[in-house]
Amino acid sequence: MKKVAVLTSGGDSPAMNAAIRAIVLSCHYHQLQCTGFYHGYNGLINDQHVDMHQFDINSALQQGGTILKSARCQAMLTEEGVMQACNTLRKHDIDALIVIGGDGSLKGLKEIKQHWEKPVIGLPGTIDNDLSGTDSTIGFATAVTTATHAIDKIRDTANAFERIFIVEVMGRHSGHIAFNVGIATGAEAIISFENFTPDQASSKVAEILKGVEKQKRTHGSFLIVLAENLWPGGAHALKASLSEQGQVDSALCILGHIQRGGSPVPEDRNLATELGIASIEAILDGQDNVMIGKLSGTVVATALEDVINTPKPVSSHWVKAHQRQLTHYLK
Ligand code: F6P
Repeated sequence: MKKVAVLTSGGDSPAMNAAIRAIVLSCHYHQLQCTGFYHGYNGLINDQHVDMHQFDINSALQQGGTILKSARCQAMLTEEGVMQACNTLRKHDIDALIVIGGDGSLKGLKEIKQHWEKPVIGLPGTIDNDLSGTDSTIGFATAVTTATHAIDKIRDTANAFERIFIVEVMGRHSGHIAFNVGIATGAEAIISFENFTPDQASSKVAEILKGVEKQKRTHGSFLIVLAENLWPGGAHALKASLSEQGQVDSALCILGHIQRGGSPVPEDRNLATELGIASIEAILDGQDNVMIGKLSGTVVATALEDVINTPKPVSSHWVKAHQRQLTHYLK
């Protein structure tokens, strides 16, 4: 074992850099060479690489984004693309590959494993927290913190105007961000994959309008946290329905990519550091085809196959906590 390669892929997440830093430092400690590939799998396919040294990662710990850049790579969906990626690994005599990314990126890694004989290790890097095999993904805590601070500010102005606000948060097709942020900000309504299906749109609007009626009596604001990719027609359609069904005027804020950026919170930096170090140890221990995560305080390796095929539900405690809050509100 001489040479380890690393890349970041898919939606970037805060503390991906902290993971890269830990990998580079661990390689140095174990006297391994570390090669970075730029722009996700594209860098592997097009051979855009850099030899990574300690001085490259000096200030990476506190930086958002990823110093290795990232991308979504359509070519990895083709056998030709995967073969090209494997050829680059062979050309550089890479002995192990670490990919930091989300669900799609780990699927790509599994494809590489079909055509490349050396060890592959995944690290969970996504703000969505939608990967099983780890309680939290790298970047999730920062995204929740960023969105919470943003919504706290929205709450101030919403209170001042006694306004109804719809705030759309990211999460792709899961509600980890929506529920964590909605509970943290005391949102009057959380509309997410776990408590809503598109056919319930009309009854959900009626429920919200009932809550809004009470809000008028208490001179407060009414905050709706909405998971992206869920409401039929999108957040603008929800705003239009509130207006049409209840003659209620609402303001809309789509938080968007603000949730992906920023300096990572300590929880993410430390998780990324721990998992980065563990990924090198896993390679040296002979592990292969696994994602390294942390469950109940313990670093664990889970087969990529299981990570990819096992959905991670939002804790039912969060869904219940919100139900209680909303029921109370609607009384
Ligand atoms: O997976 C991370 C994520 O930010 C999702 O929450 C979101 O749906 C998606 O990526 C956005 O992707 P893009 O930046 O390619 O528009």
